[in-house]
Order: sequence, then structure tokens, then C-alpha cells
Amino acid sequence: MASRAHIFLQIFFLSALATTAFSLSPDYYANICPEALPTIKKVVEAAVYKERRMGASLLRLHFHDCFVNGCDASNLLDPTPTIDSEKTAVANNNSARGFEVIDQIKAAVDEVCGGPVVSCADILAVAARDSVVALGGPSWEVLLGRRDSTTANRTLANLDIPSPFMDLPALINNFKNQGLNEKDLVALSGGHTIGFAQCRTFRQRIYNASNIDPVFAEERQATCPRTGGDTNLSPLDPTPALFDTAYFNNLVKQRGLLISDQALFNGSSTDYLVKIYTLYPEAFWYDFARSIIKMGNIKPLTGNQGQIRLNCRMVNY
Ligand code: HEM
Ligand SMILES: *[C@@H]1O[C@H](CO)[C@@H](O)[C@H](O)[C@H]1NC(C)=O
Ligand SMILES: *[C@@H]1O[C@H](CO)[C@@H](O)[C@H](O)[C@H]1NC(C)=O
Ligand SMILES: *[C@@H]1O[C@H](CO)[C@@H](O)[C@H](O)[C@H]1NC(C)=O
Ligand SMILES: *[C@@H]1O[C@H](CO)[C@@H](O)[C@H](O)[C@H]1NC(C)=O
Repeated sequence: MASRAHIFLQIFFLSALATTAFSLSPDYYANICPEALPTIKKVVEAAVYKERRMGASLLRLHFHDCFVNGCDASNLLDPTPTIDSEKTAVANNNSARGFEVIDQIKAAVDEVCGGPVVSCADILAVAARDSVVALGGPSWEVLLGRRDSTTANRTLANLDIPSPFMDLPALINNFKNQGLNEKDLVALSGGHTIGFAQCRTFRQRIYNASNIDPVFAEERQATCPRTGGDTNLSPLDPTPALFDTAYFNNLVKQRGLLISDQALFNGSSTDYLVKIYTLYPEAFWYDFARSIIKMGNIKPLTGNQGQIRLNCRMVNY
């Protein structure tokens, strides 16, 4: 039997939960440093102009940050005796890139803001958005006010960043552990409409899979031998510098590059979403924006938690 006081307490805790869950805000830097966001955009645009792939690499950094103990820039910390750097986790080692661009952005915002007020975690979130826009994709309002972690955890990175060898149930479970559903999984996997993958991540599929277009497999085998050439690159879709729906069109033709890509269209529960995104590119844009905002809300540090790093690679003294 719920007493009045009990109901009161419930409302109190629910609203406390709500304020924690929604404490990020699009206007966070509007007064503290109105030039912060335009500055990030300028540096991202310059970097993408110099090398189109950088847009993909920056988007992926935000993903690999958020999936490991929340969006707190833990993946930017270099190894030290006390920092268990995530940079050598399986998914990141010799793979994650764009750290120099993040350094450039950090230097530029600290300069324009007259001090370190913008967190590295927020820089990753904004750079991801600006990268997608620079490559022709949708825009969204980035929620801000994240703070930076003082720790990193390589073990957790190995556990929580999904592997390209996962089947659909494993992928669904991996995303569910982050509070993300099947639609988030399919929409966010659409991030593979840009960028490249190394031979070692798709060799198994192009030589052994049965759910692959044989012509496509042969094309990929040309630059990814059975042995050696581990770091040779292939585009994740036919237009790796354009944020479009070619990734989904490809899945329907069994031309997904990674096992985890084709798993999304393999005779199971997510097939219909892939189909929808091939038919209605606007639906992909809308869902991608919604899901990446949701991803950006994973366990942020706020208020007086964590810190604003002076250097994104190091915890402040
Ligand atoms: C669903 C599970 C996912 C798996 C298993 C996965 C796996 C991978 C792998 C293996 C690569 C190639 C890395 C390399 O060879 O160096 C890659 C690249 C990439 N991933 Fe994912 N990924 C997933 C989801 C996502 C999400 C949610 C995003 C962002 C929204 C994303 C964005 C990217 C981008 C943009 C690249 C290209 C990076 C570059 O060219 O530097 N991925 N992913
Ligand atoms: C990371 O890659 C380097 C080669 O660049 C290798 O020497 C090292 O053992 C790898 N680290 C891990 C943890 O796999
Ligand atoms: C890192 O993550 C693992 C796996 O969740 C956990 O067991 C471990 O305690 C974490 N390490 C630190 C220092 O928090
Ligand atoms: C795709 O479907 C086939 C047939 O049901 C199954 O054997 C295979 O494991 C599936 N692959 C993935 C990656 O889900
Ligand atoms: C293909 O599958 C066979 C049998 O499972 C395995 O021995 C071989 O290493 C696989 N090849 C590649 C390139 O993954």
C-alpha cells in the first residue's frame, strides 16, 4: 500500500533520476564560450578536407569512448603506470586514429575560450557530428556538459567494444548492455557508410562465409590475401567518403564487409530495418541522429564528477 509520503519519495527519486539522465544540454557552452562549437567545426572541416577518411575515424572515436564506461574521453588517455590505456585494446590497437586532430581541436578551443573549459568528451561528441555533416550526412543538436574521466580500463574496452566477428544475437546483447535497442544497433551500424577496415577484420568472412556475394568476395580477396596483408584497407561500403545509404543497399546484396555488418541482414529480426533504410534514406538520417544522441548520453560524468582535462591524453596533476 503506497502512502502519500511514499508516493512523494517516488516522485522525488524519479525526478532526481530524470535530472541526472538529462543533465546534458545543447546550450552548455553558450555563455562560457560561445566560440567553442564553431571552433571545433572549423578544425574538423580542415582535417576532413585534408583527408576524407578522418571524418570516419573521428566518428568511431566517439563510439569507442561511449561504449567503455560512458562518454568520458577515457579512450584518449595514453598509457602511464597508473593509466590502463584503452588505446591497446583489441579494437583500438593499430586501428583507432584521429588523436592528433583531437589534440588540435583541444588547443584551438582552449585558446579561443581563454582556458580549459571544454571537455575532451564533449569535443569527441561534437567532432563526430561535424564529421558526419562534412561527409554529407545529417546534422543534430549535440547535448553537452560531459566531463572527462581520470581513469581508463583496457579490460573493459575489450569486453564492451563489439567485435566484427559477432553474430546478430551477440550484437543485440552488446548494444543492450549499453541501453541501446535493435533499432539503435542497425542505425548506428550505418556509421559504416564511411571509412575503411583492415584485412584482418574481414578475412574470415571473404574466404569462408556462405552469406556473401561471390563476386564481392573475390573483389575483396584481391587486396586481402589468405595470409599476410593484415593491415590492407578496404572501404566499408562503395562510397567510403560519403554519408549515404550505400552501406544498407550493399547488405541487401550480401555485400557487407564485416561478419557483424552482414549479420544485420541475414534472414532475421533486423532485416526489415535494413530494408527500410534502403527505401527511405531520410528514415536512416532521422534514426541515426536519434540513436547517436542516445549513445552520447551513456553514463556521462557531470557536475563535479571527473575533470576538464588540460591535455586530452593525460589526467590533470
Ligand atoms: C555494431 C558493432 C560494430 C562493430 C563490430 C564495428 C567494427 C568495426 C571494425 C572492425 C572496423 C574496422 C577497423 C579497422 O580495421 O581498423 C570499424 C570501422 C569503423 N567503424 Fe565500426 N563497428 C561497429 C559499430 C560502429 C558504430 C556504432 C559506429 C559509429 C556510429 C562505427 C563507426 C565506424 C567507422 C566510421 C569506421 C571507419 C573508421 C576509419 O576509417 O578510420 N562503428 N568498425
Ligand atoms: C599493439 O600493437 C603493437 C604493434 O604495433 C604490438 O607490439 C602490441 O603487442 C599490441 N598490443 C596489444 C595489447 O595487443
Ligand atoms: C575494469 O573493468 C573490469 C571489467 O568490468 C573490472 O573487473 C575492473 O575492476 C575494472 N578496473 C578498474 C580499475 O576499475
Ligand atoms: C546467417 O544466417 C545463417 C543461416 O541461418 C547462419 O548459419 C549464420 O550463422 C548467420 N550469420 C550471422 C553472422 O549471423
Ligand atoms: C576458413 O575455415 C576453415 C575451417 O573452419 C579454417 O580452417 C580457416 O582458417 C578459415 N579461413 C580463414 C581465412 O578464416
